Amino acid sequence: MSKTIVISGHPNLEASFTNTVILDGLQTQLDDVSVRRLDRLYPDYQIDVEAEQAALLEADVIVLQFPFYWYSVPALLKKWVDDVMSFNFAYGPEGNKLKGKDFFLSFTIGGPEESYDPQGYNHFTIEQFIYPLQQTAYLAGMNYHKPVYTHRMVYIPGVYNELDEVQARARAHTDRLVSEIRRVTESDERLLRNFVHQWFAKFDVLSDDEKYFTQFLASDAVLSTPEGNFKGHEGFSEWYSNLKATFKSGCEHLVEQFTMKPSEQGYQLELRVRLKAETFMESVFKGETIDLNVNETWLVSTSDGEIKIQDYQVVPMS
Ligand SMILES: Cc1cc2nc3c(=O)[nH]c(=O)nc-3n(C[C@H](O)[C@H](O)[C@H](O)COP(=O)(O)O)c2cc1C
Repeated sequence: MSKTIVISGHPNLEASFTNTVILDGLQTQLDDVSVRRLDRLYPDYQIDVEAEQAALLEADVIVLQFPFYWYSVPALLKKWVDDVMSFNFAYGPEGNKLKGKDFFLSFTIGGPEESYDPQGYNHFTIEQFIYPLQQTAYLAGMNYHKPVYTHRMVYIPGVYNELDEVQARARAHTDRLVSEIRRVTESDERLLRNFVHQWFAKFDVLSDDEKYFTQFLASDAVLSTPEGNFKGHEGFSEWYSNLKATFKSGCEHLVEQFTMKPSEQGYQLELRVRLKAETFMESVFKGETIDLNVNETWLVSTSDGEIKIQDYQVVPMS
């Protein structure tokens, strides 16, 4: 079972009408959840970095829960991000402590949906405003998921909205977030994300255990790669020997983006992978250290929980 940690970035939940409802709902609906109320823990904004990092290490799913303030997170949550996502924790040579954790942004917004549009008075979409947080998740190697947010959540008696309306929207918001968390942690998506990470971990060492790979390849799988097109297990073998003669063991494949959609046989995975590797003098790279991005598209089937890659395309990004 997955453990969820919710970082509540509201600066004063005593005065909240909607974030409190969401936090209460998450605590009721999720089995293994802990909420860190930054307003109570750090009224003086002095974040206990060690305690926060220890709490994150225990979690599988991290949710940042906040009201949208000035097109961003409240200052208290920004301070938390600045202090906690530190060098060699969230980034840097040993900064892999959050890698592979599932990351959700969950927030309440005052303005109406139509205002967050090039034609509206807020000009930009919500997705554009939150790019910095999305990229923060990518840099830390976390699995960034579609954000969950709700508009028209400001309540000023007699001016904006009715209390029962905003609180009903807060409950609907909670239900959506809970079902997204369940979808990610209990589903084919979880299975496939883990699979992709394991696959590339094996590629990192360029293991001699070729069977590890072929067990997941359909016997007529088609591989289209920059090194040429290959077919089936024999084709994989040829391609893999080629890679082993090019790259030194100990390279790094970082899965920077992962999206999946249903396809006829199972799923189509779209991956963006960053490859850092040392190469052999005799190879086309002539001993250079390379650092490149590739887009990969895989067609996979998952019948009875058994994963088989049917089609595997690798396209370097120009
Ligand atoms: C300081 C401050 C800044 C805000 N900035 C925005 C904003 O940029 N865009 C927006 O749509 N709503 C904005 N709002 C409205 C809040 O998002 C809204 O009041 C909040 O989501 C309601 O959550 P609560 O009931 O838990 O306090 C702002 C509110 C405050 C107090």
